[in-house]
Amino acid sequence: MPAGVTSDVKTYQIFINGEWVNNKSGKSFPVYDPSTEEVIAQVPDCGPDEVNKAVAAAKAAFENGPWSNSTAQERGRILFRLSEQIRANSAPLAELECRNTGKPIVEAEFDINDTATCFEYYGGLATKVVGYVNPVPDNAMSLSLKEPVGVAGQIIPWNYPLLMAAWKLAPAIAAGCTCVLKPAEQTPLTALEFAKYFADCGLPPGVVNIVTGFGEGCGAPIVQHPDVNKIAFTGSAAVGKIIVKQAADTVKRVTLELGGKSPNIFFADADFEAAIDGALFGVFINQGEVCSAGSRILVEKSIYKSFVEAMMEKAKKIKLGPPLDRETKMGPLVSKEQYDRVSEYLAIGKKEAKLASGGSRPEKIAKGYYVQPTIFYDVDNSARIAREEIFGPVAAVIPFEDEKAALKIANDSPYGLAAAVWTRDIFKALRAVKALRAGVVWVNHMQPTYVEAPWGGYKQSGFGRELGPWGIEEYLETKQVYINLNEQPIGWY
Ligand code: NAI
Ligand code: MG
Repeated sequence: MPAGVTSDVKTYQIFINGEWVNNKSGKSFPVYDPSTEEVIAQVPDCGPDEVNKAVAAAKAAFENGPWSNSTAQERGRILFRLSEQIRANSAPLAELECRNTGKPIVEAEFDINDTATCFEYYGGLATKVVGYVNPVPDNAMSLSLKEPVGVAGQIIPWNYPLLMAAWKLAPAIAAGCTCVLKPAEQTPLTALEFAKYFADCGLPPGVVNIVTGFGEGCGAPIVQHPDVNKIAFTGSAAVGKIIVKQAADTVKRVTLELGGKSPNIFFADADFEAAIDGALFGVFINQGEVCSAGSRILVEKSIYKSFVEAMMEKAKKIKLGPPLDRETKMGPLVSKEQYDRVSEYLAIGKKEAKLASGGSRPEKIAKGYYVQPTIFYDVDNSARIAREEIFGPVAAVIPFEDEKAALKIANDSPYGLAAAVWTRDIFKALRAVKALRAGVVWVNHMQPTYVEAPWGGYKQSGFGRELGPWGIEEYLETKQVYINLNEQPIGWY
């Protein structure tokens, strides 16, 4: 047995056309518990061969199988059953998510609950997709019909594994699409466990196929496949740019959610205690591995010093520990790779700014990819730690003079996923809401996310929107139908 491998390592297969199958090469890769650094599973290392089979199954299901004739009511009921299965199995799913990502169990439980809610929401929405009668100026009836876009390739990240799968699968199923889903290589386990419910829930074979593997070996062949009609991607901006280029050859529809460097803006009149909490929650929840992390904390000069001190005091009390411990507020980062990446930014930050707290791994924890909640202050917005997404528990606190300066700094970023503003002045809040170039703006809070509301970014944070009615729209085509009501020849010739 290789080093680090324990005897309860579970071996997984991939899910294609309703069956659990092996990959052709038989090669697999290890999946870790980042808090112990031990291997907890082995999953197939898939490539073009498996992608081709998965896409063929998805295409056949879309064109011929029972799915192609399914009613919206039937698809809705399947989604409700999937939601029920998630709720019935929420404890083991949350535990597995917790072990594989390193996120605290309490947060994992929230994620699984949100996952079930997402399937419920789209179960209800399936029967509310409607077309139009267009008011054309002739004796004719003009319709616009909504139809599924076809085979969807869905490539997801590791920070919210099952929830990100839900954000993509639920609207696709509601719309009548078929799917090839590739979970992140670090965290494929809950999606694979979830597939075990499909048959009982009445999801026909081929509607959802799951292949596991790495980005270039398994993700890229999905993006390039001529029979895949749409790609939905959440992940890094670097990979998002590759996907747009590769999707061009087959003119695929693409939606991208690429994270950001979101500003969390604190005016002097904000409730001080709530503000400190909000600043820490905004950047340290889920170890900072959040696309909408409030990683740039903009603070008005008049409260700046006391704000940094209060943040620092409170950050020191954040409890790092084993993810399965209910008292833990912060677990390890997801992987060694992410730990190394974040550690590099800690070194960069120490050169670019002043360190208020954290800045290294916690001394008392010997194993696991833990990083202390870290606060840099006196950060200039041109610094790398203010411009680049770190995706770890690293805050860059930036002072500002007045409202105008705050909004200028906030918008001075290549990204535009989210922003938050804290003030008791309604006029100031609304001016900020209007001025901020971001797809999500919170006032006096940061991070609440609802399946009923749109999610997605401006600028280099991507395009397209997930969740709500916007989410299903991305899986629909619009067909124009003209019905002539004249029974005579045109009379042109
Ligand atoms: P990544 O963007 O490389 O991975 C995300 C997904 O894309 C994974 O499923 C991966 O296998 C796949 N992928 C990678 N290369 C691909 C390719 N050429 N074609 C198709 N699919 C491909 O993210 P990674 O390397 O895990 O993290 C790097 C950084 O990305 C993080 O530090 C963070 O800044 C950002 N990130 C942002 C996320 C977000 O929620 N917006 C989520 C995860 C990472
Ligand atoms: Mg990568």
